[in-house]
Amino acid sequence: MDGNFMDFQLLYRSVSNHSKWHSSDMDILNHAIAANKLAGISGYLLRDQRLFYQVLEGSEDRLRLLFARICRDQRHTDVECLKFEAVDKPLFADWSMGYQVARLSGLAPGGISESPHGPEGDADAIIAQIKRIASH
Ligand SMILES: Cc1cc2nc3c(=O)[nH]c(=O)nc-3n(C[C@H](O)[C@H](O)[C@H](O)COP(=O)(O)O)c2cc1C
Repeated sequence: MDGNFMDFQLLYRSVSNHSKWHSSDMDILNHAIAANKLAGISGYLLRDQRLFYQVLEGSEDRLRLLFARICRDQRHTDVECLKFEAVDKPLFADWSMGYQVARLSGLAPGGISESPHGPEGDADAIIAQIKRIASH
């Protein structure tokens, strides 16, 4: 990634149309690893039961284009952007796309935040949890 570009970070949540361990996740992952590498995008996809949480990092333009495609993808629904902001440095630069099945803590059944600040206020806490899971 060219250091002159400002890195952006995007976090979204969505509802998978498949249960965990379905091969659809591996199809997504295989495509993402190859395509993100070419686009200078890094990130992590976390499956929490039926929910996806995905962090994406890269240039603002590339993330906008990718997110538009992801939103149209039939393999999930209810895509909700929780964060889209410039960041000082990417947290997931080691992964063109990492993946794990794991539970996030502090979320009520259905994945809705128990925080009084709502999901937006929680975005950084969710990203920090994903980073911890990714680093194990
Ligand atoms: C949960 C989820 C995460 C995805 N993550 C990525 C990703 O990180 N990079 C990527 O290129 N495609 C990702 N995709 C696939 C895109 O939605 C899309 O299928 C792919 O970019 C090809 O788009 P196209 O068929 O319009 O060319 C993801 C799809 C889903 C459902």
